[in-house]
Amino acid sequence: MAPTKQQILDGLAAISAPDGSPLPKTGTLSDIVVSDGKVFFSITVDAATVKAWEPIRKKVEDTVRAMPGVASVMVALTAEKRGGGGKPAAAAQGHGHDHGPGAHARGGGPAGVPGVKAIIAVASGKGGVGKSTTAINLALGLRDLGLKVGVLDADIYGPSLPKLLAIKEKPETLGGTRLKPISRFGLTVMSIGFLIEEETPMIWRGPMVMSAITQMLREVEWGELDVMVVDMPPGTGDAQLTMAQQVPLAGSVIVSTPQDLALIDARRGIAMFNRVNVPVLGIVENMSFFQCPHCGERSDIFGHGGARKEAERLKVPFLGEVPLDMAIRETSDSGLPVVATQPDGPHAKIYREIAAKVRDQLQGAGQTRAAPKIVIEA
Ligand SMILES: Nc1ncnc2c1ncn2[C@@H]1O[C@H](COP(=O)(O)OP(=O)(O)O)[C@@H](O)[C@H]1O
Ligand SMILES: [Mg+2]
Repeated sequence: MAPTKQQILDGLAAISAPDGSPLPKTGTLSDIVVSDGKVFFSITVDAATVKAWEPIRKKVEDTVRAMPGVASVMVALTAEKRGGGGKPAAAAQGHGHDHGPGAHARGGGPAGVPGVKAIIAVASGKGGVGKSTTAINLALGLRDLGLKVGVLDADIYGPSLPKLLAIKEKPETLGGTRLKPISRFGLTVMSIGFLIEEETPMIWRGPMVMSAITQMLREVEWGELDVMVVDMPPGTGDAQLTMAQQVPLAGSVIVSTPQDLALIDARRGIAMFNRVNVPVLGIVENMSFFQCPHCGERSDIFGHGGARKEAERLKVPFLGEVPLDMAIRETSDSGLPVVATQPDGPHAKIYREIAAKVRDQLQGAGQTRAAPKIVIEA
């Protein structure tokens, strides 16, 4: 039996804050989520005191892990700037990595992840356009090009990897706090969804989001990777902007459906990455057209070609068109992504072509990181 929230709080009473008061009395703990033996919560502290809190965070994790019935635990340390001006507090701290609030000016950008050559974001202005489906199949396409590929599901609002890859097991902990990622179809993958239940309602405050992402970037044994594909949360708000700033991105791939409305969101996404000097590697048009499986007739349900035109207009590369197809939906929703399970089919070919363009863009982006920037009004 997993401990209750109260039992966890009781256990934490023996741990003191830097000022000596018992931890549960300090008002720094978030709601404690206990689900199926997995425990998750955050400690929110003043950014100036993060260093003093890190050993406490670790002690908290060790204490909870030692409780009977606890299968895994993740305690995120979240830094908040005191005085709360207009800017969202985005001072999440990786342990021992000093890239706090001051690191926003992208001189060299945030510190990279050791062993990982390039991190790319797959993003969309809004949800439901097939961002996760694109991310996983793009990752598999890159794998097919002979690259070592990881996938980080950073969509904390709707983690998709557990479903996309039918992953039920939870990651093992290696030694102290490091997590071992899960392997599927030759990909190394990690998702916040592995640590919490799909149905668990989570309230993510801005800084908590970054803290969780920082942990998934820096406390997971990713090993050597040529490319890490990050499935970003949809939207272009503060949380996304912060993430785009704090994750050491080599480039971004924007997914859009062809409709005007989706394209407006895609435009915002491109503007967002431009603001933080992350090169846009290109746009993918998803659900581009529909080919009737019975009569073979093709219909442009959402007005095919919109994203290609938009890419031309914005002078960003167009990476390819993925049709709206039952095979993509079914494979994607049953944990058997189409590139892995139907490698000789037409869809796998499309994704591999997209992957090749992404790789080429990435190589280009590596050489000319300061590529001419396009200024777009969001
Ligand atoms: N090209 C496509 N053809 C058919 N279904 C698709 C396609 N792309 C995505 N889907 C389906 O649409 C739904 C939303 O896709 P998903 O990748 O989860 O989007 P997002 O991550 O943007 O929310 C899923 O059920 C997925 O299987
Ligand atoms: Mg998704």
